[in-house]
Amino acid sequence: MSCVTIASVNQKGGQGKSQGAHALTMVLSSIYGKRVLLIDFDPHGVQKLLCGYKENILDAYPSANISLIFEDKLLDIDPIRVSEKVDAIFSNYLLAEYAERNIKNKENLLSKLVKRFEEEYDYIIIDSLRTTGSLMTSVVLAADKLFVPVKTNILDESGTVGFLDEVYAIMEAYDKEIEKITLIPNLYESNVNDKRESLSNIKNNHPKYLKSLGYKGEVLVAPPIPKRSLFDSAASDPEVYNIVKFIEKKAKSNRDILTLLKTITEMSI
Ligand SMILES: Nc1ncnc2c1ncn2[C@@H]1O[C@H](COP(=O)(O)OP(=O)(O)OP(=O)(O)O)[C@@H](O)[C@H]1O
Ligand SMILES: [Mg+2]
Repeated sequence: MSCVTIASVNQKGGQGKSQGAHALTMVLSSIYGKRVLLIDFDPHGVQKLLCGYKENILDAYPSANISLIFEDKLLDIDPIRVSEKVDAIFSNYLLAEYAERNIKNKENLLSKLVKRFEEEYDYIIIDSLRTTGSLMTSVVLAADKLFVPVKTNILDESGTVGFLDEVYAIMEAYDKEIEKITLIPNLYESNVNDKRESLSNIKNNHPKYLKSLGYKGEVLVAPPIPKRSLFDSAASDPEVYNIVKFIEKKAKSNRDILTLLKTITEMSI
């Protein structure tokens, strides 16, 4: 099988992009036995913490820093082995500095990095920053498929429409094909009116909107992920750093979430 690159994207913060990218990585590696390269493309750099490393891990492993792609050192990048099946390239504040600079061919550097590693992995998962502009363009150009977490409330759900416009504009401007866009309604609470209404809007309006723009690929809407404290407990657990193992070992009452994460992973790959 050839490598598939999936980017977790949305221009707004707090939608579940990082959580989602991490969960996809863990489900693909721990349940399906796939080799995964996780790339953190956000200067906040939360993936290193979600993987159980300290904030300053890149001081000890400078060659696992994504910013090297902007220093003409793409070939020097050496991912960190997180677990048997998972390697990662992490990020820090430097990425924000490079975002401001004029660098030749800037938008294509992430794609080049993905190409360099395609042979070695089944999946490359990119956790994207909350922005539009040149770094967002880099992410769209590097991806085969997009994973789009959307918080189920009217503001975030309607904001995502503008984001889909931007993604489609990038695809058109660069003649870039994205095979599949999976929308993931997140932080859902079935007893809240606003959340039920926005879930129904995501299901009914977003796929139609993408098609009306002229998008030819597949658009799916996943079942909603409920709001659960489990996600924060799994992220801060000092032993596991893997939501699959956390549920299996320490939070068995949340097995429904594991089933849901498997469904969402299968829809997104
Ligand atoms: N379904 C959920 N239930 C409860 N908490 C959640 C859920 N999904 C995400 N969270 C929490 O919400 C917070 C924001 O999630 P996350 O960091 O993944 O968002 P993001 O889109 O990557 O944000 P940013 O743009 O700031 O990087 C985190 O603390 C995460 O643990
Ligand atoms: Mg994030």
